[in-house]
Order: sequence, then structure tokens, then C-alpha cells
Amino acid sequence: MTDSTVLVVGAGSAIAQDLSTRLGDRGTRLVQWSRQEGFDAVVDVVADESLPDLPETLEGLVYFPGTIELAPFPRLDMGTFRRDWEINVGGLVRVLHHAIGSLQKSEAASVVGVSTVAAGHGLGFHASIAAAKAGVEGLMRTLAAEYAPRGVRFNCVAPSLTETPLASGLIDSDAKRKRMDDRHPLGRIGRPRDVAAAIDYLLSDDASWVTGQVLAVDSGYGICH
Ligand SMILES: NC(=O)c1ccc[n+]([C@@H]2O[C@H](COP(=O)([O-])OP(=O)(O)OC[C@H]3O[C@@H](n4cnc5c(N)ncnc54)[C@H](OP(=O)(O)O)[C@@H]3O)[C@@H](O)[C@H]2O)c1
Repeated sequence: MTDSTVLVVGAGSAIAQDLSTRLGDRGTRLVQWSRQEGFDAVVDVVADESLPDLPETLEGLVYFPGTIELAPFPRLDMGTFRRDWEINVGGLVRVLHHAIGSLQKSEAASVVGVSTVAAGHGLGFHASIAAAKAGVEGLMRTLAAEYAPRGVRFNCVAPSLTETPLASGLIDSDAKRKRMDDRHPLGRIGRPRDVAAAIDYLLSDDASWVTGQVLAVDSGYGICH
């Protein structure tokens, strides 16, 4: 995506940082929002009353904010379900309401959301995050249909366990790490660049005939469980 501008929401994510390097190296202009300092704007898409102004035209938007709150169902209270929904779905809706005008001004725009393997496959202890991410997938599929005539594509990636700070509690000992690696058909959990490369593709012109899809980036986990 040269000569184009991409909004990266949740730019502090390890996957977002890999993606931003790829896009930046090719000359794509980035608008990076994060709750953390060091990006273009400090933004909390759930808590802030208003969102920063955007460029008139956007060729891409990637929404990274997400959570991993795993527990047996009785321990996942309504507060957890609400919080997971707000961050994963509510914030995405809010950003899209804000950005859709700029996306439509582009000749061809692409929006990518981040789901999880747990949204499409039954994994114990994932009830809250699976419900929220299934919402992300449903939203993106609907908008893909609604905006196809206006040239805006909407897709998701659905990663399995990926080595980022969000997932650190699941791989914080050698034994846990080995167990998680062994569960994946290709013999290892994901790296941020595995997921960033898939997002990069969905943003690119190479995917100009792809919309409304959920691309599994999961070492084959989803087809084997
Ligand atoms: N790592 C995995 O195993 C895995 C598996 C499946 C799906 N995912 C998804 O991948 C996406 C990126 O996460 P990551 O793995 O790259 O983890 P990460 O490096 O720890 O990044 C966490 C991301 O979530 C945002 N975030 C965290 N808590 C938030 C809150 N309370 N309110 C708003 N934003 C919050 C951060 O935004 P700031 O920039 O504002 O800090 C950042 O974009 C998430 O949607 C996650 O659900 C990850």
C-alpha cells in the first residue's frame, strides 16, 4: 500500500508494531493510536469522549484492541463479558463510525479486525472472549456486504495463541510453553510476524477481490480440534 494512509488502532500491540514496520518500510503513511505514549495520538477508544480527527482519505484501518480473560464459565461474570464486548466490539464500532467517511473517500479501502481461533471453534474457558470476537466477525461480515458496492472491504484474521504480552500468562514457564507449542499442528505457537503478514495481505491490493472473510492464522489448530 504505497501512497496510502492506514489507521492503526491499538498501535502498542506487538502484532501492530510488526505490521507498522512492514507498511512504513514500503512508504505507507501511518496514523497510530494507542493508550500508550510514543505514537501519533494517545487514545482510549472505549473511555475517551471523542476521537481525534482523521485524514480526509484512508486506504486502510486495522483494529487491534483486545483481551484474553480465560476462566471456567461460572467465574466469568457479567462485568467481564461487558468489558470484553466494549474493548473488542464497542470500540471497533465507535472507530468505524468515526472513520467510515474517510474510508469511503478512498478508491479502494480495506478494514481488518482481529478475531481469535476460539470464535469459530469450541475451546473451554473462552466463553467471554469467544462471544466478543464472534461479534467482531459478524460485524465485519455484515459491513463487507453493506460496503462492497462502495469499494470498502472488511475481513478478519483469527489467530491461535501468539507470543505477545497479552498471552504471556499462558506461556510463562518452559512447561507451559512446550505444552502450547505441542498443541499446534505445525509444532509452535504464533509469532507476531505470522499474524502481521496475514493482515498485510488483507490490506493489500493482492486481496482486492477478498471481502467478508475470516483468515485463520493458527498453525492448523482450527482444523484439527
Ligand atoms: N496473542 C494472542 O495469543 C492472541 C490470540 C488471538 C487473538 N489475539 C488478538 O490480537 C490482538 C492484538 O493483541 P496482541 O496479542 O498483539 O497483544 P499485545 O501486544 O499485548 O497488545 C494488546 C492490544 O490490546 C490493546 N488493549 C489491551 N487492553 C486494552 C484495554 N483495556 N482497552 C483498550 N485496548 C486495550 C492494546 O492497545 P494499546 O496500544 O492502546 O495499548 C493493544 O492493541 C487483540 O485483539 C487480541 O485479542 C491475540
